[in-house]
Amino acid sequence: MKTLDMFTLLSVIYISFFTFGGVAASSFKFASSYGDHMVLQQSPHKSTIWGFASTAGEIVTVHVPGKGSVTTATRSGNDPGVVVWTAQLPPMDAGGPYTITVTSREGNLTLSDVLFGDVWVCSGQSNMQFTMNMANNSAAEIKDADNYPNIRLFTPMQTTSIKPEADFLELHHGWVVSSRETVGGKTWQYFSALCFMYGKHLYSTLKYPIGLVATSYGGTLVEAWSSPDALDKCLSKNEIPAIKYKNGTVDPSTYSSLWNAMVYPLLNMTIYGAIWYQGESNIWPQQRLDSYNCTFPAMIDDWRRKFSDASGGQTSDMFPFGFVQLAPYRKGKVYSGWPTLRWHQTADCGYVPNARLKNTFMAVAMDLPDFTSPYGSIHPEYKQDIADRLYTEAMIVAYNRTDMLNRRGPFPSGFTEVVDLKTVIISYANSKTTIEMRTNNGFEVCCVPRNDISDTRVFCPFASPSTQWKDVPITASDSTSLTIDYHSACTSSNPYLGGIRYEWLESPCDMKKCAVYNKLSGSPAPPFIHFVTL
Ligand SMILES: *[C@@H]1O[C@H](CO)[C@@H](O)[C@H](O)[C@H]1NC(C)=O
Ligand SMILES: *[C@@H]1O[C@H](CO)[C@@H](O)[C@H](O)[C@H]1NC(C)=O
Ligand SMILES: *[C@@H]1O[C@H](CO)[C@@H](O)[C@H](O)[C@H]1NC(C)=O
Ligand SMILES: *[C@@H]1O[C@H](CO)[C@@H](O)[C@H](O)[C@H]1NC(C)=O
Ligand SMILES: *[C@@H]1O[C@H](CO)[C@@H](O)[C@H](O)[C@H]1NC(C)=O
Ligand SMILES: *[C@@H]1O[C@H](CO)[C@@H](O)[C@H](O)[C@H]1NC(C)=O
Repeated sequence: MKTLDMFTLLSVIYISFFTFGGVAASSFKFASSYGDHMVLQQSPHKSTIWGFASTAGEIVTVHVPGKGSVTTATRSGNDPGVVVWTAQLPPMDAGGPYTITVTSREGNLTLSDVLFGDVWVCSGQSNMQFTMNMANNSAAEIKDADNYPNIRLFTPMQTTSIKPEADFLELHHGWVVSSRETVGGKTWQYFSALCFMYGKHLYSTLKYPIGLVATSYGGTLVEAWSSPDALDKCLSKNEIPAIKYKNGTVDPSTYSSLWNAMVYPLLNMTIYGAIWYQGESNIWPQQRLDSYNCTFPAMIDDWRRKFSDASGGQTSDMFPFGFVQLAPYRKGKVYSGWPTLRWHQTADCGYVPNARLKNTFMAVAMDLPDFTSPYGSIHPEYKQDIADRLYTEAMIVAYNRTDMLNRRGPFPSGFTEVVDLKTVIISYANSKTTIEMRTNNGFEVCCVPRNDISDTRVFCPFASPSTQWKDVPITASDSTSLTIDYHSACTSSNPYLGGIRYEWLESPCDMKKCAVYNKLSGSPAPPFIHFVTL
């Protein structure tokens, strides 16, 4: 009882101090993801602004010059003793700069040099963290950042937590204006090369401000970026490993630990979309490679739901989500889990968007090897090509540029087997794409002994090297189809065609020398595996 009384007494002093003491401004503040120079989401969305205060029940007025004021009341937050406020601005056209003021009895706050445009979140593991000064041609790329003052950047520090954090625990950098000084920070720290190059492409086309939030952590699993609700869709409770600590902090391999510390604090902000470059850490069998086809789509669903709910529906619950399909790693004809992971990135469909992964887009990168990268061949320096491909698909999916459909990477729409000739015609006619053949390799077939097998997968192993899978040549092609010839592969003991797969290797080809591309844009066709129904 005594301690409780003491606590009550202290609280009274505490509240009085902040209400009448005149130094309340110290706890009346914006969340750390808000700051001068930021980009807020433009119309038709309403942008959300939020922060902390010391006393619940105070009136907070947010004023945007020329757009009037919005009032809201401070209230208790989710964490004990934390008081928060949230306001939704009216829908704002792209542009600026604005100075937004927030006033309450606790003081006045300002956000100056604010622009309205589209806000994109960039997340994932080391290949998203990979910084501008590490990229190919970095000196020129960094210098060029001076030309994009309407691109604004924000990067939280790599941190972990075992519980959802209302705010970031630490920042690398609050919001800054793009320039050679701001973009060219320290290796592995600042600023994400892919995120920046992607934003630059968007800006060059859209011509309005772009806000980039780079939240990434090298060497991490999709499960670490997933909330317990998302994990629940794919794993049973006993499949979730115990929390791991390293030097007294939560190890980032801990499931949900990056969701808690590096995504959750962003949820209340209105955003336009997200891009993602992750998967390498999930490849090894002990890291749930086999369930990536569930965990990745479930994470996307869950991020969409939670960003939308937390912003009062202002962030779309189907916001565009782009990702990079994994690049090559080791040189040579290495069979490994990489093709499986690439396949699982598409929810086992081969291409996106699809019925499971709606409103998503993908940059194929399997043809961009960098075996001599100074950062190891798992970290290719050629982020420009990836950014360019991601941008092309984003225009189509996230910005409804149907006129750019003819630039999309081709994918197969049908397989026609000509049994007498032992050939298969693979059609790419579903896309508005003219295909280009850069080599006649890249396809393998699996041959089976009988033509009454109900599931050819039994004979044609999915992931591994195998004597069943044999290289076959492309023998003909035109602008929408190609023909493979399997007669040298399916011989007397295994005469029947059971499966076809394309570029199913860790590092399938030399630089931009895989087999099938979009002739107009140079976008590659993604890898696929197809089992024949006999
Ligand atoms: C806040 O701003 C208003 C006018 O905008 C001013 O009257 C008031 O003194 C300011 N309060 C503090 C604590 O600076
Ligand atoms: C790397 O950058 C140089 C310019 O410094 C450029 O000529 C070259 O094409 C780039 N390499 C790739 C693979 O993009
Ligand atoms: C963790 O502690 C070990 C030993 O005390 C030290 O060598 C290592 O640098 C620390 N790692 C980090 C990330 O702080
Ligand atoms: C995911 O892939 C595994 C094999 O890696 C397969 O057994 C499973 O059926 C797939 N699940 C879904 C949801 O596609
Ligand atoms: C942010 O969103 C979370 C999740 O919906 C909600 O619980 C919390 O109250 C919101 N915070 C603010 C400051 O609005
Ligand atoms: C997308 O663009 C097409 C053609 O330009 C237009 O008819 C359609 O309404 C647009 N859809 C959306 C959601 O903006």
